[in-house]
Amino acid sequence: MISTLLSQLHGTDGDPTPRLAYGADYNPEQWSREVWKEDVRLMQEAGVNLVSVGIFSWARIQPAQDEWDFAWLDEVMDLLHAGGIGVDLATATASPPPWLTTAHPEILPVTASGETVWPGARQHWRPTSPVFRTHALRLVRKMAERYANHPALVAWHISNELGCHNIYDYSDDAARAFRDWLRARYTTLEALNHAWGTAFWSQRYSDWEQLLPPRLAASHPNPTQQLDFKRFSSDALKEYLRAERDVLREITPEVPVTTNFMVMGGTKGMNYPDWAGEIDFVSNDHYVHPGPQDRDELSFSANLTSGIAGGRPWFLMEHSTSAVNWQPVNVAKRPGDLSRDSLLHVAHGADAVCFFQWRQSAAGAEKYHSAMVPHAGSDSEVFRAVTGLGQTLRKLAPVAGSEREPARVGIVFDWDSWWASEQDSHPTARLDYRQEALDWYSALLALGIRADVVTTKTDLARYELLIAPVLHVVPAALAGQLTRYVENGGHLVTTYFSGVVDENDHIWLGGHPGALRELLGIRIEEFGPLLDGDTVELDAGTGTLWTDRITVTDPEVEVLAHYRTGVYEGRPAVTRRTVGGGSAAYVSTRLGADGLAGLLPQLLAAAGVESELPAAARGRVEQAVRRDADSRYLFLVNRTDESVPLPGLSGELLAGGAETDGALVLAPREVAVLRQPTL
Ligand code: GAL
Repeated sequence: MISTLLSQLHGTDGDPTPRLAYGADYNPEQWSREVWKEDVRLMQEAGVNLVSVGIFSWARIQPAQDEWDFAWLDEVMDLLHAGGIGVDLATATASPPPWLTTAHPEILPVTASGETVWPGARQHWRPTSPVFRTHALRLVRKMAERYANHPALVAWHISNELGCHNIYDYSDDAARAFRDWLRARYTTLEALNHAWGTAFWSQRYSDWEQLLPPRLAASHPNPTQQLDFKRFSSDALKEYLRAERDVLREITPEVPVTTNFMVMGGTKGMNYPDWAGEIDFVSNDHYVHPGPQDRDELSFSANLTSGIAGGRPWFLMEHSTSAVNWQPVNVAKRPGDLSRDSLLHVAHGADAVCFFQWRQSAAGAEKYHSAMVPHAGSDSEVFRAVTGLGQTLRKLAPVAGSEREPARVGIVFDWDSWWASEQDSHPTARLDYRQEALDWYSALLALGIRADVVTTKTDLARYELLIAPVLHVVPAALAGQLTRYVENGGHLVTTYFSGVVDENDHIWLGGHPGALRELLGIRIEEFGPLLDGDTVELDAGTGTLWTDRITVTDPEVEVLAHYRTGVYEGRPAVTRRTVGGGSAAYVSTRLGADGLAGLLPQLLAAAGVESELPAAARGRVEQAVRRDADSRYLFLVNRTDESVPLPGLSGELLAGGAETDGALVLAPREVAVLRQPTL
């Protein structure tokens, strides 16, 4: 579907070869007609061929319940089409207009402590509100009927960042829908009482009507209730997504449907691997959170998005040309960052590079958020960088439609474990699931090792080394799958607080890490979380956050590192059990990216995995590979602020880099793309 879509984005030159999509959210309702014409001219200058229109246009399109105003949007669609620009048309349902919330305040979300989330910002609607749904689907139908045959329409953009502000709603609508969801999951109250462990604290339910979302309570709400509410909330929005999608498919079955995910730091409410199958192609929004691992995090998120998309291409629907407006301090990007950040997403499978937004707003909460056309206008560094990127993306047209070439190392990222491991009343409140996974990823980048970030829906057997950090929730089936993986010669690495609970968040008894105890050949009697600032020394490296009191129970276990200090001094800290040609390793403390880079070589060696990069470039360059039937596309990303030579690489240089004395040289923060024939 993506290829068909991309082949429609041929601009005014008529060349039907698929090309990468390039563009932005476009909010013409904030500007006058004269500006629209100028916009299209500048879009052409920048090489833009796709814009997302109408995302926050509900109040403009439907000024009152039975009043519709499409004239302005018709004009915008016509103008864009005449300019050779395709439209990813929003269903416009993201933010309900004041007339709707005034007439129906019962669509407003309610917080855990019972406060109403009032209108005034955006996305103030309950995912489970039947009233909201009726009004939203009416709008979706109108939009689809109106633009079904418009030649500018190339894709549908459902709502916007579903769940960004309203993932958790504790209203009465949510309570009713949660009960229905629980009935479907458990069938009987007996099963629910067992799963929720309601023998504890006198919580036994005798009627479905007694069940509630985990609203503000006197102490820690029931953990399984909390976990189920997270699952339910993700499912409720998924169900809403399907409702919009079904209307669109009924009216325009041939137009692909997407919605923009938020695979990035800080967003964990939506179980995207579970949503991905509901849409025709995956889209993602990503914003850099400045900090020491910021570009590693960008790469990690793009890589995980590719994993969610099953290795197929996806769309980068939003990122920023420079500063955002919603961080405590909003840092401008440095020269080169705009291009490198965009191309890093392409390296990991993005077939579209889009920004929020086309023209920087003059008013409203996002007026300090960067855009493709900044306040300064087109005579600006940002617009020149935007135009330069447009030219680079044109050169990368051959990459469009190519898939990711699987790496030999996989990092498992699992939503259930993310949700459950960070719940309250645990050994530590400091555990950060995503950070642990990111640290492993950073360590692999530092060693020049390519890895795929994958979900538990992926065929894990294809990886030679599988790293599953904090794999906390391990149902029996997953334990069996991992055991078979190792027995068949795979090398598994897991960490502290893994294998501890089943899908109901019940402890696997008999010693930790219950579900993986035999596979790892160790037994943990007690967890030893560390206080803030406390550290523990290992044979090699320093641990924080967590330690375990480990006993080795299997003769095939080798201790790779001991604790040298702390209450478990002299005991094993890192272990590995050999199982035929495979192995299962356990890391019981938080080593951080640097510490893991010290440990990883022996784990990689066991799996026979080596860097594909020239020695001098390891750690300084990230390599990602896409491929199609004829070619491999090597993306070489300079992670540093210095030039990096890459001797010994051959291929046709599609973009970036310079050839000096037979070596490809990357300028600071530059990305080069080499095409090689597939063997
Ligand atoms: C996204 C959102 C956009 C815009 C952007 C600013 O979350 O979809 O509408 O608000 O953030 O960074």
